[in-house]
Amino acid sequence: MLPTDVPALWLRDNCACADCRDPLTGQKLYQITDLPEELAVGTLTPLDGAGSVGPGSDGPGSADGWEVVWAPDGHVSRYTAQWLGQAAEPDPRTEDAKDLWGSAASLADGLPETTWSAYLADDAERLRMLEAVARLGFCLLRDVPLRDGQSQQVARTFGFVRETNYGAQFEVRVEERPNNLAFTNVAITPHTDNPYRDPVPTLQLLHCLVNDAEGGDSGLVDGFAAAAALRESDFQAFAALTGTPVPFVFRDDVTELSAHLPLIGTDPAGRIREVRFNNRSLGTLRLPAAQSEAFYAGYRAFARLLLDPERQLTFKLGPGDCLVFDNTRLMHARTAFARGGARHLQGCYADLDGLLSTVGVLRRKEAQPC
Ligand code: OGA
Ligand code: ZN
Ligand code: ZN
Repeated sequence: MLPTDVPALWLRDNCACADCRDPLTGQKLYQITDLPEELAVGTLTPLDGAGSVGPGSDGPGSADGWEVVWAPDGHVSRYTAQWLGQAAEPDPRTEDAKDLWGSAASLADGLPETTWSAYLADDAERLRMLEAVARLGFCLLRDVPLRDGQSQQVARTFGFVRETNYGAQFEVRVEERPNNLAFTNVAITPHTDNPYRDPVPTLQLLHCLVNDAEGGDSGLVDGFAAAAALRESDFQAFAALTGTPVPFVFRDDVTELSAHLPLIGTDPAGRIREVRFNNRSLGTLRLPAAQSEAFYAGYRAFARLLLDPERQLTFKLGPGDCLVFDNTRLMHARTAFARGGARHLQGCYADLDGLLSTVGVLRRKEAQPC
């Protein structure tokens, strides 16, 4: 790739010189409007490996880098060949950056799990778990101490707790006067949490303290895999879901939340980026009849996929297990449990941006130890 093969403005906007970027922070020091409108590469000089300007060894294609003198302003920029040749990274939030799993059986390497002590002691193990959340949508930490507030401690190892109307932490157990069916003993079918929030908490943590009850088993479903399957099998249904914002609502004595968003959120290129699905909190659509019918047909088709037991990974959380999962992608569920049985989870929310940042830092460390 030669500097003359790429758009001039793009190349100039990536100049790393000390006039263009603050050397300390790497942040840009100019506005796009400060760059000349008639920008063009004036002269192009190959650089040798030492980074000095040289007479190009085996012709222009083999240089280690380039010095560009820009016309008309005479600004000087340098680019390495390695940088020029880099491929685009997919948006880590879209399906392009994920390993989709359509069934428990397709999780080839088994559950992404480790112990709390290994997670804390070993950067490589921590990276493996956080990468599993990024790529598969979840990880499972075992032997996490049975302490009050521990789910928040787990969140703080990679990011920040997101406080909501349920508190910085919430107790998942049978409550006397529940404001949510999660806080009863009934079955909770696959869903994402807080679809009535915008922005939605993008990660959820569930830490099991007690699970002696008969029942109360957990399930996870890959919503991106189900959405991709729907796109394959019934494009009309997929299009009705990506194209129809629907209201999700939650209310209790002190809360009145609503968000209007589609069940399947795509980026401008049509890639799956976010799934929102919760039969308990879908509100009232007020749309022209044809649109309403198209939405409901799509909703039913998507629900059939999401509720198909074949798609569900099923397991039982035991004391000390802490599940960390992507609430924009995975549905979670639990079976009903005996009312008298003891079951207590603590949970909190956090966000993927912080987790992905930690993944980036750990990868950097791995590439350049010390
Ligand atoms: C929740 C929930 C699952 C469980 O609290 O959001 O879905 O295992 N709980 O109780
Ligand atoms: Zn510059
Ligand atoms: Zn839930």
